[in-house]
Amino acid sequence: MPRRNKIALIGAGNIGGELAALAAREQIGDVVLFDIPEKEGLAKGKALDLEQNGSVLGYDVKITGTSNWDDCAGSDVVIVTAGVPRKPGMSRDDLLSINLKIIRNVAENVKTKCKDAFVIVISNPLDAMVFEMKKVSGLPAKRVVGMAGVLDSARMTLFLARELGVSSKDVRAMVLGGHGDTMVPVTSYCTVNGVPIKTLIGKDKLDAIVTRTAGGGGEIVKLMGTSAYYAPASAAIAMAKAYLYDEKRMLPCAAYCEGEYGYKDLYIGVPCVIGGGGVEKIVSIELNAEEKAQLDKSAAAVRELVEASKKL
Ligand SMILES: NC(=O)c1ccc[n+]([C@@H]2O[C@H](COP(=O)([O-])OP(=O)(O)OC[C@H]3O[C@@H](n4cnc5c(N)ncnc54)[C@H](O)[C@@H]3O)[C@@H](O)[C@H]2O)c1
Repeated sequence: MPRRNKIALIGAGNIGGELAALAAREQIGDVVLFDIPEKEGLAKGKALDLEQNGSVLGYDVKITGTSNWDDCAGSDVVIVTAGVPRKPGMSRDDLLSINLKIIRNVAENVKTKCKDAFVIVISNPLDAMVFEMKKVSGLPAKRVVGMAGVLDSARMTLFLARELGVSSKDVRAMVLGGHGDTMVPVTSYCTVNGVPIKTLIGKDKLDAIVTRTAGGGGEIVKLMGTSAYYAPASAAIAMAKAYLYDEKRMLPCAAYCEGEYGYKDLYIGVPCVIGGGGVEKIVSIELNAEEKAQLDKSAAAVRELVEASKKL
């Protein structure tokens, strides 16, 4: 019998709430908004508010707030934001020890209740968290992916568009590598509708945009005291739709490398094709020597974090 897709959102905080709002508005499936027992009221309250929102906006999907993993059973997509966000002055890596315990708990439950799902991890530090999710849940690598590159590329897209005085709709930017200070905005693949960016903007201005992109999350944390949530949620929903609708979108995502780009047993941001099979392919693109060196540096930073998590 046909049935609606089921989307489980683990963590009903800022990003979780916005994910639920978008999933409902775009009617990609019924939504389960999960949080810990102490926050069950928050999950239930947001769920009810969003169901009522459907009566105004004209969507009709079921949204359940819960702290019971049984309600997440059989989900098609699981999006994980469980954990704590940064406060001003913190790096993403500062969150490792606290969020590691949380992700292990979530992964154990994914393993028993949602073993057939496509799992998108958002919690930071992203690359180490998605590595742990795959390890503990035992799900195949193609069904465990991290969201960072879509967001970081969107930030760079906006900065380029504003600088050039063109619509962000026409800018294509690509940010690879780990989701931290070492991320790699790959300027050689940035274009305005196919026109290489370097022919449109001077080196100093481009360098400044690269720097602002790498600090793009921190800029928002400093302004509002916590992490961004609108764009992160939209980025993850784009990835979920690519899977659910077999869109074969090529997106920069934290994917499990097994030799690609010279990295083994490592999650890092690389261009991937996302379709009904999950991460169907990691696309190997040619990088110039400087970009490859930056990616290697980023991979080393991610590996250090993964090694640190093995000791915790
Ligand atoms: N990957 C990215 O690009 C990106 C971007 C922004 C934020 N983030 C990260 O996403 C995470 C969530 O951010 P937020 O702003 O939504 O935080 P938030 O504090 O608003 O929400 C997190 C929620 O997770 C819940 N939680 C804690 N332990 C849990 C568990 N075991 N099971 C289920 N839920 C649990 C908390 O109770 C809280 O409601 C943070 O780690 C943040 O750093 C990542």
